[in-house]
Amino acid sequence: MNLLEALAAVEEPQIGRSLGDLAFLGDVDESAKTVQLLLPVTNWPNIESLKSRIAEVWPEASVVVRAMNEEQRFELRNRLRAFMAAEPGPGLHEHDTSPAITDKRSTTRVLGISSGKGGVGKSTVSVNLAIALAQIGKRVGVLDADVYGFSLPKMLGALSDPMVLGDTVIPTLVHGVRCLSMGYFVDDDQPVIWRGPMLHKAIEQLVTEAWWDNLDFLLIDMPPGTGDVALTLSEIIPRIEMYVVTTPQPAAQRVAQRSAFAAKKLKLAVRGVIENMSYFVGDDGQRYELFGSGGGAQLSSDLGIPLLGQIPLESEVREGGDIGLPITVTHPDSASAKAFLEIATRIASQGPARVYRQELRLN
Ligand SMILES: Nc1ncnc2c1ncn2[C@@H]1O[C@H](COP(=O)(O)OP(=O)(O)OP(=O)(O)O)[C@@H](O)[C@H]1O
Ligand SMILES: [Mg+2]
Repeated sequence: MNLLEALAAVEEPQIGRSLGDLAFLGDVDESAKTVQLLLPVTNWPNIESLKSRIAEVWPEASVVVRAMNEEQRFELRNRLRAFMAAEPGPGLHEHDTSPAITDKRSTTRVLGISSGKGGVGKSTVSVNLAIALAQIGKRVGVLDADVYGFSLPKMLGALSDPMVLGDTVIPTLVHGVRCLSMGYFVDDDQPVIWRGPMLHKAIEQLVTEAWWDNLDFLLIDMPPGTGDVALTLSEIIPRIEMYVVTTPQPAAQRVAQRSAFAAKKLKLAVRGVIENMSYFVGDDGQRYELFGSGGGAQLSSDLGIPLLGQIPLESEVREGGDIGLPITVTHPDSASAKAFLEIATRIASQGPARVYRQELRLN
């Protein structure tokens, strides 16, 4: 392999394709030892890790970044679209393309993280479970579908906005997880009033028009309750698997149960219970069950699905969420990070849900 070929083969971390595939490589001057990169914007996210990948191939080179013009950005959009097609187009192989998550051929498992009521830790679970799945080597994306309370990018620590190329959105890569939120597309100061069809269209677009690229798992942080989002998702991704987050007190468990039964009515596979804020370990080493106990176990037995794990209440979990440094990244040895890892492993090993075929639905 010559130098040019080696550089073209370097994988760009944000999109996950080679510099050659993306036409990101500009002039390479061997005598001046410079590599020009042609990127959609000059402040391209994760540029440092791209530069270090180039340095592995050519340590002496200095990297110069140039911004694409409109035409080149459109060309990039077309390239991504060709990869996103269900069937490989001219010059592409089967393994180059990734069918949309809504396509029957897609192998991406879609996990809806839901709860009956707010504040039980749905977003915290979505973020840390996504990272834990990435830590065990899975390709993971997370979509914040909570129109009323989007908080996920901040919790995950997404510093840059997703890149929009016309009708194609490139999610932000953070801690090895691709992240996209409704929040990016809603004006901060505007009150969000979503009507059913608008919400449906928005979610469908974020699932189908984004560069998720052959994920193993797409986690969806659902708004609390039963609502429109679950209905929309049941229509666009019939094979979605639902995971219910609850706290240990009986009242929370009853509300969670109601939303789980509603999900079952929509023929969604409800596949597991995650109990959060299960206990607190004091400085004295004692376990305190601040929110009571047994809610998760009760819910799982009522629904006939496994209790996948119990996450303790730890101040680092909240602090990490506030500053965008999730506990699974900063304190991998903590009890909660271990609980997330165990849940991730169990979800990965229990395999996809049986597909509920819409055409076989009995209404
Ligand atoms: N295991 C935990 N230990 C400590 N703090 C936690 C834990 N789980 C969640 N929290 C904190 O509790 C608060 C609520 O959590 P989170 O925002 O994840 O809940 P949610 O269900 O997504 O809420 P909402 O309904 O508002 O979207 C956050 O401040 C979060 O950091
Ligand atoms: Mg939330």
